[in-house]
Amino acid sequence: MKFFIDTANLAQIKEAHDLGVLDGVTTNPSLMAKEGIKGEEAVMKHYMAICELVDGDVSAEVIATDYENIIREGEALAAMHPQIVVKVPMIKDGIKAIKYFSDKGIRTNCTLVFSTGQALLAAKAGATYVSPFIGRLDDISSNGVGLIQEIVDMYQYYGFETQVLAASIRHTQHIIDCVKAGADVATCPLDSILGLLNHPLTDIGLAKFLSDHQQVNS
Ligand code: E4P
Repeated sequence: MKFFIDTANLAQIKEAHDLGVLDGVTTNPSLMAKEGIKGEEAVMKHYMAICELVDGDVSAEVIATDYENIIREGEALAAMHPQIVVKVPMIKDGIKAIKYFSDKGIRTNCTLVFSTGQALLAAKAGATYVSPFIGRLDDISSNGVGLIQEIVDMYQYYGFETQVLAASIRHTQHIIDCVKAGADVATCPLDSILGLLNHPLTDIGLAKFLSDHQQVNS
């Protein structure tokens, strides 16, 4: 399973990268705004900075919602750096654009996916990744991880190559549940990744090892 970090914060990206387990980064317009990145030039510069920090795929989202402008923005993003994956919303023109990008060999991440039917369309259009938002589904009393399982099963049954990228992860248990469901990728906030490190028995065991070592060696 691949780990992406879900942020545009360079310090957090560096921290996850330095851990040695990071496979990529996802961003979205809200995450860019949170970092105060304004204007096309600043946005492009920020994507470049992210690509220089990490080795894997970096999802950069188009703002346009009409076919011509999604193509224009997506081609500019893809031309900027080989690590860029063009993130396209799950709308009619988005699906048409994903098919265009896929025919041209430009990699895509179909975002804002909330149903198996939407994931079917994204795969048929040739998306590299599909991003079901599990936290936002849980927020409305729906079953986010259940959707991951349905999409994984469907893609496996029909042999689709689109990778299931579990997005909108809110906590560490979401990552574990996505592993069990067979997601190809989880994009996570830094805290959720770091949460995987924790177990009280590890802390108790380490304290005992160190105190036993201290007793004999003092
Ligand atoms: C990532 O690709 C998504 O944009 C992100 O995970 C959405 O997360 P949120 O629901 O916490 O905003």
